Amino acid sequence: MRSWLGFLILLLLLARAISLPAQKAEGPVAAIRSGEIWPDTDGNHINAHGGGVLYHEGKYYWFGEHKTAGRGGNSTLFGVGCYSSGDLYNWQNEGIVLKVVDDETSEIVKGCVIERPKVVYNAKTRKFVMWFHLELKGKGYEAARTGVAISDSPTGPFTYLTSYRPNAGDWPINVPVSLKDKKVDETKLEWWTKPWTKEVEEGLLLRRDLKEGQMARDMTVFVDDDGKAYHIHSAEENLTLHISELSDDYLSFTGKYSVLAPAGHNEAPAICKRNGKYYMITSGCTGWDPNAARSFVAASVMGPWKPLGNPCVGEGAELTFESQSTFLLPVQGKKDAYIFMADRWRPKNPIDGRYVWLPLEFEGEKPVLRWQDEWSLEVFDKKQKSEASLK
Ligand code: DGJ
Repeated sequence: MRSWLGFLILLLLLARAISLPAQKAEGPVAAIRSGEIWPDTDGNHINAHGGGVLYHEGKYYWFGEHKTAGRGGNSTLFGVGCYSSGDLYNWQNEGIVLKVVDDETSEIVKGCVIERPKVVYNAKTRKFVMWFHLELKGKGYEAARTGVAISDSPTGPFTYLTSYRPNAGDWPINVPVSLKDKKVDETKLEWWTKPWTKEVEEGLLLRRDLKEGQMARDMTVFVDDDGKAYHIHSAEENLTLHISELSDDYLSFTGKYSVLAPAGHNEAPAICKRNGKYYMITSGCTGWDPNAARSFVAASVMGPWKPLGNPCVGEGAELTFESQSTFLLPVQGKKDAYIFMADRWRPKNPIDGRYVWLPLEFEGEKPVLRWQDEWSLEVFDKKQKSEASLK
């Protein structure tokens, strides 16, 4: 009996050890292993969730949400973390580059929620500009704001400037102006019904938020070849994506914006440009749980965007391999090489969230994602060689 008990305890301890993240790792690696612990150069699991990567002067900088352990670990107790790398496999922790503060009157007081930080470099001002989804402390997700911070260096410190509900007073360029004054009897409209969805498509929520500014939750920032930058965000109760032009210094909104997939319920936008076309990968809206990704293509960043369906194929495709998109990372020095970056959230213990990084393939104009247990950047060279031999 006692030996059985001992055996059971041993089994339990073994199971616990397996489920715990490894604390320290071997040496440098040259492979990407999605869904596993990804140790930084100190051997600690990388803590940069909902992230984005900036390439600057020979180095990659990965910015992300610095999560903490246990329930509640999604609220921001430290700030935005940064890691640097020369090879995309081995990442050095550069610390917290935007710090939350103790001042209860600040919008970025400890306990606020900072999500999906993205940093871009402004060649004219020579400043690094960070945008992020900001929720005010104690207000759940109702604030739906986007915050902006600035720095002279990619590794910070970033100084918080302000937050916005974007495009206050402005109407999107691809929604008929006549709808701006449409009158609807809302007492007869029930949320989430078909007639309500139709009214959303016809500007119901755009009108509601016209004066105070549009909602901005999940977001990304994209700098085009001509230096113009765009802030892409889930607006209108996460029903519609807005693509908003930023000012030349990237610190505010010009008021020019378009809507993508009205009432289509898209979150987690990630964008890249390839051969003159813009590609977007998004998710549906199911909180921290994964769902099927969507993809779109456009000849202009402001649209029109054509839906191309779920880019994922094979086993796990219906749940984006248990992840949610966050960024499309162009690999330097390689043609047509983009990495799909996604998060496998762990809401019960957010610090243990995992990263899913997969090579983005294209079949004609369709982006395609296939699961890989382990891969290296050489896949892009192999692809290029086999394409060249077909010519
Ligand atoms: C899904 C979003 O993509 C995440 O960034 C986060 O906001 C969660 N929802 C919160 O439930």
